[in-house]
Amino acid sequence: MIKNSDFTYQYKLELEQIMSQYETKRAALLPVLNLAQEKYGSLSPEIEKAAAEYLDLPLMQVREVVSFYTLYHTKLKGKYHFQVCRNMSCHLLGCEEIIEYLKTRLSIDVGEDSEDGRFSLSTVECLGACEIAPMMQLNDRYIGPLTKESMDEILSKILSEQKI
Ligand code: FES
Repeated sequence: MIKNSDFTYQYKLELEQIMSQYETKRAALLPVLNLAQEKYGSLSPEIEKAAAEYLDLPLMQVREVVSFYTLYHTKLKGKYHFQVCRNMSCHLLGCEEIIEYLKTRLSIDVGEDSEDGRFSLSTVECLGACEIAPMMQLNDRYIGPLTKESMDEILSKILSEQKI
């Protein structure tokens, strides 16, 4: 179980740097959650609690933020997390076809993780990169415009352990 003290001890310098940029602890909630997710891979209930204690916030407030933003997840995701945008521009330019194609290629449905822990597939709201629609976020990279061919290329790089 992760405690507030574990989190603050291990990431003291990074947390101090974040806190120095904000006037109040409350204002630093998103960057603190970003750091926690980057370090632990997901925001489990223990991590939410540690973040709430560290920031002197009610746990419920942290939970609401975590459940509101699609960039946060409460369960560990696969090594490759495909998050395809389903908003207007991406929708008009064919994201549904890309999602269907990915479902087939990854053998998982939206919201699922592959059994080997390699892949996760999610859909998200506009990521603010409509100029490259249809697009997705693959781990921390934005990629688009997506086509079946570009998906094949990405998947073959992943499968042959090459850098994407
Ligand atoms: S609609 Fe997909 S990035 Fe904006």
